[in-house]
Amino acid sequence: MKTLYFKLRAIGVTWLLRLLPRNQPLVFSGRGSSLELCRQLALLGYTRALIVSDAFLAGSGLLDDMLGTLAQAGVKCTVFDGIEPDPNFEQVAAGEAVLTRESCEVVIGIGGGSVLDAAKLIALLHNNPGDLAFYDGIQKAKNPGLPLFAVPTTAGTGSETTPASVITDSATHRKVAVADGKLVPHYVALDPDLTRTLPPRITAATGMDALTHAVESYLSRASTPVTRDMAATATRLIFENLPRAYQNGEDMDARQAMLTASFYAGVAFGRTSVGYAHAIAHQLGRVCGTPHGEANAMVLPQVLEAYGAPVRPALAELARSSGLAAATVSDDAAAATLVQRITELRREMGMSLEPTGLAADAVPGIVKAAIRETGDLYPVPRYLEPDELGGIVSKLVAAA
Ligand SMILES: [Fe+2]
Repeated sequence: MKTLYFKLRAIGVTWLLRLLPRNQPLVFSGRGSSLELCRQLALLGYTRALIVSDAFLAGSGLLDDMLGTLAQAGVKCTVFDGIEPDPNFEQVAAGEAVLTRESCEVVIGIGGGSVLDAAKLIALLHNNPGDLAFYDGIQKAKNPGLPLFAVPTTAGTGSETTPASVITDSATHRKVAVADGKLVPHYVALDPDLTRTLPPRITAATGMDALTHAVESYLSRASTPVTRDMAATATRLIFENLPRAYQNGEDMDARQAMLTASFYAGVAFGRTSVGYAHAIAHQLGRVCGTPHGEANAMVLPQVLEAYGAPVRPALAELARSSGLAAATVSDDAAAATLVQRITELRREMGMSLEPTGLAADAVPGIVKAAIRETGDLYPVPRYLEPDELGGIVSKLVAAA
């Protein structure tokens, strides 16, 4: 009965995701494209910008070239670097207060997923005042936000193109998902120079997050020929370039390809949503503090195997389009090759497969929450039974 309820609900979510009105950002791509974005902003006539970032990036000197270019072009910038990982309502409100005080006309988010999620909300909140909790849900804001420029400094979350932000309500400790087409940034720069210094561990984790977006989007019931094309391209780019970017952070071609892949995967899953790997990963983040990308990598192969026969033709398509399997190989064998390659990739990058501090008695709660999250949000290709999910999570306990 519950499965039927979730299936009906997922049909509703599927249509909402497909129909959510939004524009895609104008993308500047390549080395130096973040500076091109700054010059473009000035050409558009803006003279006051709020830079949203975090204290580490602001202190690292990574923003200096962009700040210099903006100043040279006559744009007065105020840096708000108060965004922390898993940002909360207060940080967004504080950023919006700085924006208002300084009469900024545009928001430029420079950072990873947390920074970009917060920058998107600051731009939206400025033109839609009130309690952020009101915007929990789908398409709640009335007015478009301020012009929004996004510059990712990691290649993984896809936040620079998705119509969603996740924000923590500190009063309830609940993570609130704001989904609104008006959150999609207007301009994006995919500049590999800004990911050059990303440490290997974060390169691996964020890259596996992008891979999980791409594969789960490809399998989603909400996928379309266009989203499948983008997800398949992202998957191929990640298999080809993530090991290179991990081995040599200075490989700018690989870094650029990873930014492109992350963006494509973001466009795809922004329409289709994700699946059980994310549902479990979010619980591992909540219960054990496991970094999001690492948590996805811990469970993606097991989730794909658990889906079983219904997804093998789709996994085989991904294997073939990624050059992992020949056209003559059977679907079952090609699908197995894809899952095997994901397993190898996480091993080659020395990724941890053990969520720290996961206790056996936490498993039922994790399974329950993952089922609820999937039922609410993810049009998965097959609904897994509680004991199937329990088996996947229990193995992580054994590993821990
Ligand atoms: Fe993700």
